[in-house]
Amino acid sequence: MCGIIGYTGSQRSVPILIDGLRTLEYRGYDSAGIAVRQGDGISIVKAKGRLDRLASLLDSRADLTGGCGIGHTRWATHGEPSDRNSHPHATERLALVHNGIIENYAELEEMLRLQGYTFDSETDTERAAKLVDLYYRETSDPVKAIFKAAALIRGSYAFGVIYADIPNKIYAMRRDSPLIVAQSKDGGLIASDIPAILRHTHSYYRLQEGVVAELNGECVKFYDSNLHSIDQPAEQVDWDVEQAQKGGYPHFMLKEIFEEPDSLRKTIAPRIVDGLPHFGVEQLDGDFFARFEGIHIIACGTAMHAGIIGKSIIEKLARVPVNVEIASEFRYRDPILRKNDLVILISQSGETADTLAALRHAKAQGIYTLAIVNVIGSSVAREADSVIYTWAGPEIAVASTKAYSVQLSILYLFALRLALLEGTMTEDEVRAVCARMLEEIPAAVEKAIAMSDRVRDIARAYMNAEHLFYIGRNVDYDLCVEGSLKLKEISYIHSEAYASGELKHGTISLITDGVPVIALTTISHVCEKTISGIREVISRGARVLSICSESLADKYQIPYSDQLIVPEVDELLSPFPTVTLLQLFAYHVSALKGYDVDKPRNLAKSVTVE
Ligand code: M6R
Repeated sequence: MCGIIGYTGSQRSVPILIDGLRTLEYRGYDSAGIAVRQGDGISIVKAKGRLDRLASLLDSRADLTGGCGIGHTRWATHGEPSDRNSHPHATERLALVHNGIIENYAELEEMLRLQGYTFDSETDTERAAKLVDLYYRETSDPVKAIFKAAALIRGSYAFGVIYADIPNKIYAMRRDSPLIVAQSKDGGLIASDIPAILRHTHSYYRLQEGVVAELNGECVKFYDSNLHSIDQPAEQVDWDVEQAQKGGYPHFMLKEIFEEPDSLRKTIAPRIVDGLPHFGVEQLDGDFFARFEGIHIIACGTAMHAGIIGKSIIEKLARVPVNVEIASEFRYRDPILRKNDLVILISQSGETADTLAALRHAKAQGIYTLAIVNVIGSSVAREADSVIYTWAGPEIAVASTKAYSVQLSILYLFALRLALLEGTMTEDEVRAVCARMLEEIPAAVEKAIAMSDRVRDIARAYMNAEHLFYIGRNVDYDLCVEGSLKLKEISYIHSEAYASGELKHGTISLITDGVPVIALTTISHVCEKTISGIREVISRGARVLSICSESLADKYQIPYSDQLIVPEVDELLSPFPTVTLLQLFAYHVSALKGYDVDKPRNLAKSVTVE
């Protein structure tokens, strides 16, 4: 996910572009850049790092007075964050910004090289810029050039283009990536999202696919592929800037939970090739990992909780022993690492100090390290021997949600890959699970999201609790640990997760009249055992919210005071919709209490200190 802005009009474009990019920084923040039509050409300023770095470079560029320009804030997908890979990408004829992923960029590069083009960056975007350049050279028609280029591109894109020999005009086109177009009293704008235009106008056009927009500062024209001018209906915004940046959601956390189906699709789909798990990492796709005798998963917080589920799934499917550790403990514990062990680091940010230290500790002992990371080019990603990226897009809320879900999906695929290597599953069995992951996971998570209002109604009955317990067995217990962390960190309710078989060893003494207990029951072979645990707490007066799968609710009498039925999914995949319900529960409790859900007290999104 990246952010695009463009302005052409009577004002100086630089401050308008920077101002617009600030509202889009949530879409990506590893580098930023602008291109401004200036004199007879185009001037470009771009830099790796946060937008502030670009802004300070531009402080000394009072010479950039042009009223037509495009800007970009990047979240790397092809090529690490660097000055070179930052957008805009340019030729002597044009500059282009892009949001999306061009799948056939390697093919396009080959074709462009035959035409004499060379490349400076690793980005798919530079290939697109040169493709438009090729057709502009050929046709001298700015709209036709974009259509011709688009016809060859596979994948998703939103483009903003300015041409060196066309003063004051911006061109835009999109497919599967958002882009809006607007006309204000002092100029035309393009943007990835509504907040970027709100200072100028509340009226905008949602650019249709297959249409090129041309903005000249005074009006906007839309062209279809026959180059005929067409009309598009204008829409009105009635949100304020803050709300709009969250896409109309009251908090980033809710928005990010709602993004889970999409993040899961983006993470899973490219990793299943010919029906089998495939990571696009040479070592991972060969039999390299067959030589590992033991696996250590090291991470912090929610990422570590994803590791706990990973352990259950890897051990179940591949029968390879897995040790999960908290990074801050691992680094000082002098852990036993054998030369044929593998250390997997999981991190959303890739900058967590303890996780990074654990990685360095493992490497110093010659142990092979594999990182599962969301932020491309982050420290953990750079330093690990191999990296698998989770493609969740930027996560802004301190409480991690969609990042956890995609981390789980990678661990499942990893477990399946390992099961093939270890011979614990046949190819057909692995194919069957892969097919289900693609079909069932995003669909079930969507259904869980659709239960949000019901979860909120139930949350109302639990929001004033002082203490709350989560119980479950097996993978349900693993999920309880994450559900409990989510609730504590944003609602400040004291909560504990217990394997329900442990209750009788102490915790049950805390259960008195009205104490809330959330009981997970999605795993059939331990269902009756969990039910016994539920009966035990109910007989001591607990109020039980049962979160159970439909099939188990049909088969067994699961006692409850309140009930949420997990959307039906193959039992192996039940953690995905179940965790979404737990995240929604924590979210609604915190929101109902009126807390600052996205920025809970004492916490930071990225913990880069010990
Ligand atoms: O960026 P990381 O995934 O390495 O962060 C690890 C933890 O700090 C993080 O998961 C934290 O526990 C979250 N606030 C939980 O929601």
